[in-house]
Amino acid sequence: MYSQLLGTGSALPRRCVSNEELVHELAQRGVETSAAWIEERTGIRQRFIASAEQTSSQLATQAARAALDAASLAARDIDLLIVATSTPDMIFPSTACLVQEQLGCRGGAAFDVQAVCAGFVYALATADALMRQGLARRALVIGAEVFSRILDWEDRSTCVLFGDGAGAVVLGLGEVPGIHANVLHADGSLASILRTPGQVAGGRVIGHPFLTMDGQAVFKTAVQVLDQAAREVVERAGITLDAVDWVIPHQANVRILQATIRRLGLDPGRLVSTVDQHANTSAASVPLALDWAMRSGRIVEGQRLLLQGVGGGMAWGASLLSVSRAAS
Ligand code: ACO
Repeated sequence: MYSQLLGTGSALPRRCVSNEELVHELAQRGVETSAAWIEERTGIRQRFIASAEQTSSQLATQAARAALDAASLAARDIDLLIVATSTPDMIFPSTACLVQEQLGCRGGAAFDVQAVCAGFVYALATADALMRQGLARRALVIGAEVFSRILDWEDRSTCVLFGDGAGAVVLGLGEVPGIHANVLHADGSLASILRTPGQVAGGRVIGHPFLTMDGQAVFKTAVQVLDQAAREVVERAGITLDAVDWVIPHQANVRILQATIRRLGLDPGRLVSTVDQHANTSAASVPLALDWAMRSGRIVEGQRLLLQGVGGGMAWGASLLSVSRAAS
C-alpha cells in the first residue's frame, strides 16, 4: 500500500504587509532598508503577519479544516496528526495535540516534528512510514509557523525575510503511489549558521531569543543540498528528473529556488514559487505553495511533484509523489 494525497489546505493571517509598509514601519524604529533591496535580493514582495493573539495551532487548525474539506473527510476520520513547527504555542503539550482538540477529534496519534524549514518534508516522510507500516490509515500533516514572534525587528538582515502561515495535507492509503520515495538528511555541525539559541529556564529566557543567520553560508548550503536531495529522491523513486512535473522547494529566497532549478537542468516553468506572496514561512512554506498550486489548477491528476525542504540544523529532505484523482 502507498500513501496518497487526498486534499490540501492553507491558512494565512489577515494582515498582509507589503515591502513598502514594512520599510515604513522599520524606518520608525530607525532601521534602514528599502522595498527594492528586499525584492531584488530575495524575490519577496509581501508577507502575512499574525496578530498578537493568533497562534500556530490556530493557523494549523484552519489549514487542516480546508484540507479535510478538499478531501471530503471529517476530523474524526483522522488517526494520525503531525504538525511541523519551530514556533509551537507552548513548550508542551505539542501543537498537534492542541490542533486535535480544536478540530474536535481524539484518540489518534498526535505529535510535533521540529526540523525548522525542512519540517514539513520530515513530517510527510514520517507519516508515510507510519501509514505504510499499518499504524494509521488517514493522516493530517501540517506545517504551521508564527516566525514573526522570533524575529528581531531591529535586525534588517533577517526581519525582512519571514512571514506567518500554515499549510496542510490529508493522506490516505491506496494501491498506487502516492508517495514514491522520501529522503531525509541533517548535518548538525552547521547548527550555528541558522538558529534561535534561547531557551526557557527558571522562569526566564536564557540566551538570545531571536533568529540569527549567516545568510551567505545558508544560501550556499541550501543550493547544494537541494540539488543533492532532488537527485537522490528521483533515483530512489526509479525515475529521472525530466519525469518531474513540478518542483516545490522550501520558499526561502527566489535566488535559491532559481539556482536549484538551474543546477538540476530543469525548465524554470516547472518551479512553483510563492515566496513573493508569502515570504519565508519555514515549515509552512512547502504546503502553502502546494495548496496554492493545487487550487490555482496548475497541478492536475497524475502529475509528479518534487517537494523539498531545507533549514536550520542544517536539516533537509525531499519527497516525490504523484497526485491522485481524489486530490486533483
Ligand atoms: N536592507 C538593506 N540592506 C541590507 C539588508 C536590508 N534588509 N540586509 C542586509 N543588507 C546589507 C548588508 O548590511 C550588506 O551591506 P554592506 O555591504 O554595506 O556590509 C549588504 O546588504 C549585503 O549583505 P549580504 O548579507 O552580503 O547580502 P546578500 O546578497 O547575501 O543577501 C540574503 C542577503 C538575502 C540574506 C542572502 O544571503 C540570502 O538569501 N541568504 C539565504 C538565507 C535565507 O534565505 N534564509 C532564510 C532562512 S533559511 C532557510 O529558510 C533555508
